[in-house]
Amino acid sequence: MTLPAGITLRPARSGDLPACEEIWRDGLNDYLVPLGQMEIPPDNPSLRLLHAHALATDPERFWVAVEAAAGGADDGGEIVAFGAAVQREAVWFLSMLFVRPGRQLGGLGRALLERILPMDRAGVTLAVATDPAQPISNGLYASIGMPARLPIFNLVGRPSRAAELPPLPAGIQARPFDAPGGSGRPSDLELDLELAALDRDVLGFAHAEDHAFVRGQGRLGFGYRDANGRLLGYGYTSEVGRIGPLAARDAALLAPIGADLLVSVPPRGASAIWVPGEAGPLMVALIRAGLRIEGFPVLLGWSAPFADFGRYVPISPGLL
Ligand SMILES: CC(C)(COP(=O)(O)OP(=O)(O)OC[C@H]1O[C@@H](n2cnc3c(N)ncnc32)[C@H](O)[C@@H]1OP(=O)(O)O)[C@@H](O)C(=O)NCCC(=O)NCCS
Repeated sequence: MTLPAGITLRPARSGDLPACEEIWRDGLNDYLVPLGQMEIPPDNPSLRLLHAHALATDPERFWVAVEAAAGGADDGGEIVAFGAAVQREAVWFLSMLFVRPGRQLGGLGRALLERILPMDRAGVTLAVATDPAQPISNGLYASIGMPARLPIFNLVGRPSRAAELPPLPAGIQARPFDAPGGSGRPSDLELDLELAALDRDVLGFAHAEDHAFVRGQGRLGFGYRDANGRLLGYGYTSEVGRIGPLAARDAALLAPIGADLLVSVPPRGASAIWVPGEAGPLMVALIRAGLRIEGFPVLLGWSAPFADFGRYVPISPGLL
């Protein structure tokens, strides 16, 4: 792929992240504001945390495109685009790809993608979440074999009709990951192994580093266990209201887990959860209970099926 004149690609450094945040914001506002959507505010702490996490856990797959400074100095120059992917076991997920408005449709997005895609794609599944309002990204991703396939809705609010929420089945108990010890409590290592096994079954890959990331953000994890202590599902919620990720061994348990998380830690404001269209019973229960769809859904795309989104709720559109 030939790059536009004067542009080079290089791995990102932590000092590049403020420029990446600015390109992300400008790139979104450039097409969302003319569509009548809310402008993205200047300060986005959770986006910065996500970028730092992607860079820390997969530095080889976070690259920037730099336009040489007028004086030709190697180290200077302006960042005009960036791309970040994370690979967890055999699933490569494109977390972010943004080109500065005015530089789009010139091949930069494709060049960055080619740089951060797996060298050897055999046995690797590619996945991404896109905005349905964006023909360039949806077309570009389809052209490399990961077309958009599944909507994920951002549901926001509080359950004003809590009676609509499905209860946990008899015999299933929620227990915080950090509950005080006791004879029945798994060690941290046992819990990590249980989560990894459940994630491989439901999501197609284990991702301890992403569990650590959501815990580091203050999300509280709960395990859902049967009378024998077997882990049947898990989920995270938080006082700031963000719910997810969730996983359930049996699809019928996903909605009761989501309902339980909604009420187990009352947030300071509204709750918010990204619900895949595949998770029908969860979507139905939350809408009936009073949560509302905010904005447009994002679309999840993939090169080959890898997860069961009837049994999994992702962390965010930028991290499964
Ligand atoms: C999406 C984005 C990163 C792509 O980068 P770019 O440098 O603009 O795109 P490129 O020039 O590399 O790719 C062009 C490709 O897009 C696709 N494309 C463009 N317009 C299209 C359309 N209307 N329909 C279908 N495909 C289209 C084609 O595959 C095209 O390649 P081709 O001309 O060789 O067929 C960039 O446009 C951007 O930052 N957009 C705003 C933010 C955004 O949506 N980011 C993605 C978030 S997941």
